[in-house]
Amino acid sequence: ERLLAPAGPLKGRHLLVTSGPTHEPIDPVRYIANRSSGKQGHAIAAAAARAGAQVTLVSGPVSLPDPAGVDVRHVESAREMLAAVEAALPADAAVFAAAVADWRAASEAAEKMKKDGGTLPPLTLTENPDILATIAHLSNRRPRLVVGFAAETQNVVTYAQAKRARKGCDWIVANDVSQRSGIPGGVMGADSNEVHLISAEGVEHWPQASKADVAERLVGRIAAALGPLEA
Ligand code: CTP
Ligand code: CA
Repeated sequence: ERLLAPAGPLKGRHLLVTSGPTHEPIDPVRYIANRSSGKQGHAIAAAAARAGAQVTLVSGPVSLPDPAGVDVRHVESAREMLAAVEAALPADAAVFAAAVADWRAASEAAEKMKKDGGTLPPLTLTENPDILATIAHLSNRRPRLVVGFAAETQNVVTYAQAKRARKGCDWIVANDVSQRSGIPGGVMGADSNEVHLISAEGVEHWPQASKADVAERLVGRIAAALGPLEA
């Protein structure tokens, strides 16, 4: 498939993309997860491949097919996602579109928990690693361009600007996931998206467009930021 890679603005570049939710096991039959279809992350991986990049997509559990021409690593949990991301470095740019579960069960029961006795099982949570912040703060192998996403239900731009600083990433693609977002049914699972691109240069509003179009536009911006391949 590599032989068929189109010549394009990202030819010779390695792009790393995360997509989808993570599943954090509670016991063999139960898990904690975030809402995410993976549509936006998968569209970014597909668009980057069409632009000629070598693409590694680290995907949580989704019901989408693997995008054409993309090296897909399937994972379940946040810790597996971090390990797969680290194993895929170095990369010229990394886009963290996954909806990573912030918490996991502090311990995973070896056997299915039973509801006998009428007492509720205690569920103690512990924090997952922050994959974006970990990679953005690498001193050695940090991709030149690190892009995060921010899903917010209020104060979208101010929260996303704070997130950009805290995470140490270059850009944040911020979207409003509230039911008032203007996208019928909300952005999660939808085919369109309306985002703000937040960078050191400021805030750009991208009007509502298909997730495929948002992906194309973002990939174009990534190619421009990386510039021509050094000889
Ligand atoms: N992210 C990540 N690893 C995590 C949590 C988030 O890589 N454990 C990434 C997401 O892929 C996204 C960005 O961080 O690119 C922002 O995710 P978000 O959930 O909006 O940020 P949090 O820091 O978890 O803040 P909160 O959920 O409290 O708003
Ligand atoms: Ca979160």
